Amino acid sequence: MRILLIVSGSVAAYKALELTRLLRRDGDEVMAVLTAGGARFVTKEALAAITGQRVHDDLWAAEAEIGHIRLARWPDLIAVVPASADLLAKMAHGLTDDLATCVLLATRAKVLVAPAMNPAMWAHPATQANMAALRARGVIVAGPDDGPMAEPESGPGRLMEPPALRDAIRAVLADGPLAGKHVVVTSGPTHEPIDPVRYIANRSSGKQGHAIAGALAALGAKVTLVSGPVAQPDPPGVRVVRIESARDMLAACEAALPADAAVCAAAVADWRTARAADQKLKKVPGEAPPPLDLALNPDILATLSAAGPSRPRLVVGFAAETENVVANAVTKRAKKRCDWIVANDVSGDVMGGAENAVHLVTDAGVEDWPRMAKEEVARRLAARIAEALQ
Ligand code: C5P
Repeated sequence: MRILLIVSGSVAAYKALELTRLLRRDGDEVMAVLTAGGARFVTKEALAAITGQRVHDDLWAAEAEIGHIRLARWPDLIAVVPASADLLAKMAHGLTDDLATCVLLATRAKVLVAPAMNPAMWAHPATQANMAALRARGVIVAGPDDGPMAEPESGPGRLMEPPALRDAIRAVLADGPLAGKHVVVTSGPTHEPIDPVRYIANRSSGKQGHAIAGALAALGAKVTLVSGPVAQPDPPGVRVVRIESARDMLAACEAALPADAAVCAAAVADWRTARAADQKLKKVPGEAPPPLDLALNPDILATLSAAGPSRPRLVVGFAAETENVVANAVTKRAKKRCDWIVANDVSGDVMGGAENAVHLVTDAGVEDWPRMAKEEVARRLAARIAEALQ
């Protein structure tokens, strides 16, 4: 694929070089446009060496050679990495005072921006309004990450790391072994209302489910992520459907069918209140607390796994257990009629934590995977799903 990389002014610009290396290793052609700000942080020579192409950094010189219109038409995707607050503001307002902004206004290619700036600049209402305008126009936003900055400060504003950016670009290009395949993923907890202000929930963070959705998209799948309330950012290139209750989650999953595969990573509440109160329940002095009358929720995994014309070819469930992890997972696989179960021991810090140690239970047996980052579990699982759907 052809990727036009626009490098704007941020100390994180050096990561654009590593991203280029990763993309070219995958076989992509990369051409670079360097803004005046970007040139303060990486040299034209470094970008030329690593892209293997002439670097364009001047509107009028480019006009004489190739022209900004031809540059705008050349790529399958424009990736603005890093995207400074200034360039994002110019994009949001359609300004065209240099080559990068002219190309961005003239292109019909997909555009991905990877913001990088100080956390206060990122949080500023002006930047957030610009981001909302860009998102509404279909610009895909990758990141920013939350973490330490170059200056002694920490917070959202860090440029995403090159491997994650490469995955985000793959997802947007829908290019990879899962191209043409649709996968439904559930993630996060569900909230079951007790009354208008209270609900039943659980500790699921959505980290594992969101990482799986992102990893599947990075292999080219069209992904519908049906998510309960979580604080995770939307994975780039993924369609996210936000729901609250288990019944809404089931309806959203069924509406998303047909799908080639389904991965049920959500921690769905087993029970909901039989009838949620219309008004806030009140404490009445001297009266006993109101009883919580519970009703069983639909089992989304079992429903999707039931035989029928709309059953995805591969259905993957999760089993969060605190004891007899594998034995319980084997039983669960049979009971729910899913194809695979990813079983994990949640007795430690797995829920909300960064790592996971899982067992993959299939009809061929049980595989024990070593403890690894949830993103890595997601990548491995996505690769196995791609193999299974070949
Ligand atoms: O029965 P249990 O909750 O242990 O099963 C876990 C698996 O079933 C997970 O894949 C979870 O997403 C799914 N599940 C579901 N709907 C429910 C309960 C669980 O999809 N109501």
